[in-house]
Amino acid sequence: MSSAERGGISRRRFVTGAAGIAAGTGLVAGAAGCAPAAIPAPRYVPFEGANQTGITALPIPARGLSAAFSVQSPDRARLTAMFQALSDETRAVMSGEPPRTRNAAYPPTDSGILGAEPPADDLSVVVAVGASLFDARFGLADRKPRELVEMPFLANDRLKPEQSHGDLLLTIEANHADTVQFALRQLMRSTRGDLVLKWIVEGYGRGAGSGAAGGTPRNLLGFKDGTQNLHMDDEELMRALVWVGPDDGEPAWAVGGSYQVMKIIRMFVEFWDRTPLAEQESIFGRTKLSGAPLGMDDEFDVPDYADDPDGTTIALDAHIRLANPRTPQTEENRILRRGFSYTRGFDGAGRLDQGLAFISYQRSLSKGFLTVQERIAGERLEEYVQGQGGGFFFALPGVQGPDRFLGDMLVS
Ligand code: HEM
Repeated sequence: MSSAERGGISRRRFVTGAAGIAAGTGLVAGAAGCAPAAIPAPRYVPFEGANQTGITALPIPARGLSAAFSVQSPDRARLTAMFQALSDETRAVMSGEPPRTRNAAYPPTDSGILGAEPPADDLSVVVAVGASLFDARFGLADRKPRELVEMPFLANDRLKPEQSHGDLLLTIEANHADTVQFALRQLMRSTRGDLVLKWIVEGYGRGAGSGAAGGTPRNLLGFKDGTQNLHMDDEELMRALVWVGPDDGEPAWAVGGSYQVMKIIRMFVEFWDRTPLAEQESIFGRTKLSGAPLGMDDEFDVPDYADDPDGTTIALDAHIRLANPRTPQTEENRILRRGFSYTRGFDGAGRLDQGLAFISYQRSLSKGFLTVQERIAGERLEEYVQGQGGGFFFALPGVQGPDRFLGDMLVS
């Protein structure tokens, strides 16, 4: 491995961190030298922190799900109680709290999907709110994050109303599908009177195509996706590009939160599978199998666009070149990507319905996602993909202290 990049983990921390984990768990990790490290043993991701921990938790687990809800609470007091209940339950499921037993004449307090002792499975939940929560219902209009709007139709979108927007978004990750379902059902159970499901997208990140050692996952177009991502363990970088800061002109309660984009992007995979390999690679600017930038050898090599001004090696409209032109001025537009692949049967024409549940986190929507999206608008990849749903949300700041709850500063 010849570069500092490694699937969202900085090289320095990757080596020391993996060694530390290996020492603590007896895990055999090939962290020294250049061999890929094994995936560390699953853990209970801590719930508390200045920011919601699921946004930057590493490693990114194998499964993902986003569920959007309409809030039905009749008033601000009930909304407050809902956030408290949601937060308490999130804390419980993330820490693996065993279900409470009670009289068998009543329904059990949990679904039982994970048995008596929910195992450590890298489970995390991220709670985010949509622009519609700040309408007239709860008197929160003056607390809306500055840039939060309903996700507009952007280039190449065909947003379906039944899978777009929402008052509240839960993003759940874990290593197994049943852990994700367990968390979803616990959270829905504790907020049943207040939250009504609007849409769900579910899928996976790390899969067999990532390799046993936990390399970069491949998306459903067959390309490694996540090679050049922000290093989620670099706190300074996260402060610069992901977390809303105290001087951002945002409402005080929003400091420590992050704008979350969740976009359901369908892929026309049958069409893609009939596209020549050379064209596929030119569209992304990367070699399909190795993931290396075209003209380079290693996945983590960094392309030098100044040395290729006419796009002879990496086309000027290649996805990676448009998404990140790598100039000093475009550094502030970098985003944290944390999406997953989804598959859900097939459409009326017999075509597979699958794609990318794109998720990004950024300190500013306009400097982050919207600028990047504007740059990639019109790219050749658009022939093969289409935005069909999702929304813009704001991931709440984290919880610090046993008496606090997610959203407390927003609603109090
Ligand atoms: C279905 C749609 C998409 C697919 C299949 C896709 C796929 C990829 C792939 C294969 C890479 C190269 C590997 C990597 O560095 O992670 C990449 C990089 C990237 N993509 Fe996408 N992407 C899609 C949509 C988007 C969207 C909507 C955005 C943002 C608006 C975006 C932003 C980026 C960025 C910022 C990079 C990193 C570029 C770099 O730093 O070199 N992508 N994408």
